[in-house]
Amino acid sequence: MGVVLIAGGASGIGRAALDAFRQQGDTVLLADRDEAGARAAVAADLPGPAEAIVCDLANPDDCDRIVAACVERFGRLDTVFANAGVLLSAPLAEFTAQMWDLSVAVNLRAPFLLARAAAPHLARSDNGSIILTSSTGGLRGHAGMPAYHATKAGLLGLCRSLADELAPHGTRVNCLLPGWIDTPFNAPFWDHQSDPKDAEDRLLATIPMRRQGLPEDVAGAVLFLASPASRYVTGTSLVVDGGYSAV
Ligand SMILES: NC(=O)c1ccc[n+]([C@@H]2O[C@H](COP(=O)([O-])OP(=O)(O)OC[C@H]3O[C@@H](n4cnc5c(N)ncnc54)[C@H](O)[C@@H]3O)[C@@H](O)[C@H]2O)c1
Repeated sequence: MGVVLIAGGASGIGRAALDAFRQQGDTVLLADRDEAGARAAVAADLPGPAEAIVCDLANPDDCDRIVAACVERFGRLDTVFANAGVLLSAPLAEFTAQMWDLSVAVNLRAPFLLARAAAPHLARSDNGSIILTSSTGGLRGHAGMPAYHATKAGLLGLCRSLADELAPHGTRVNCLLPGWIDTPFNAPFWDHQSDPKDAEDRLLATIPMRRQGLPEDVAGAVLFLASPASRYVTGTSLVVDGGYSAV
């Protein structure tokens, strides 16, 4: 059984991964800025132990602190799931430098800092792995979200660089690319639709499986990328989108 650090998992995809890791007996440190949500998440009655730690991943010191806390508390580290993200949207003329900087800090800098801090510990594992949550938004772009698409595409490059540097140390690095997953993350998008039902119908028509994903639909891919079953998989992307990006 491994020790897993989930950065961003009080809700949504991270929360589903938390439960899935614990279900198979792994130990998890859940780091999130949502203190109440994180404490409630780790309180679920599941086989693997779990603890919560409050952090703001936009703060570089917090990235180092949660890695150190995980190793101090559990004595080792096998998997880092860098999953937190922010989606800020505005017309180009109104998209501020602050919005850009926050997006880069959480979506791109935090995964880099987590990887840098975790690398020496992962090298001591016989199954060291880093999973970066990108998005199908890293493969395409939509108006009004320049920083989201830029950072999610940036993770693909970060993944390749880290995979090359850490492979000699036995650590694998891969990107997870969810498509449309039904979580609170997309609430700002739906709130801005004049007719949300019509907007959802139009979205579903573009997804071959004709539904949004559930967080639980993504958790299996996270388990795979963290497990020895993917022992020869590094520097690549796993798309989990019901076929959305295939057509
Ligand atoms: N939901 C989707 O459709 C979708 C699609 C593609 C990619 N993603 C990506 O999946 C990841 C998780 O998204 P989700 O849909 O599960 O969203 P979510 O809002 O349900 O969960 C995100 C979690 O990250 C935490 N978080 C955010 N900023 C943080 C910060 N600065 N410090 C600490 N914790 C922070 C939140 O508190 C929350 O618990 C994100 O990186 C997102 O970009 C989501």
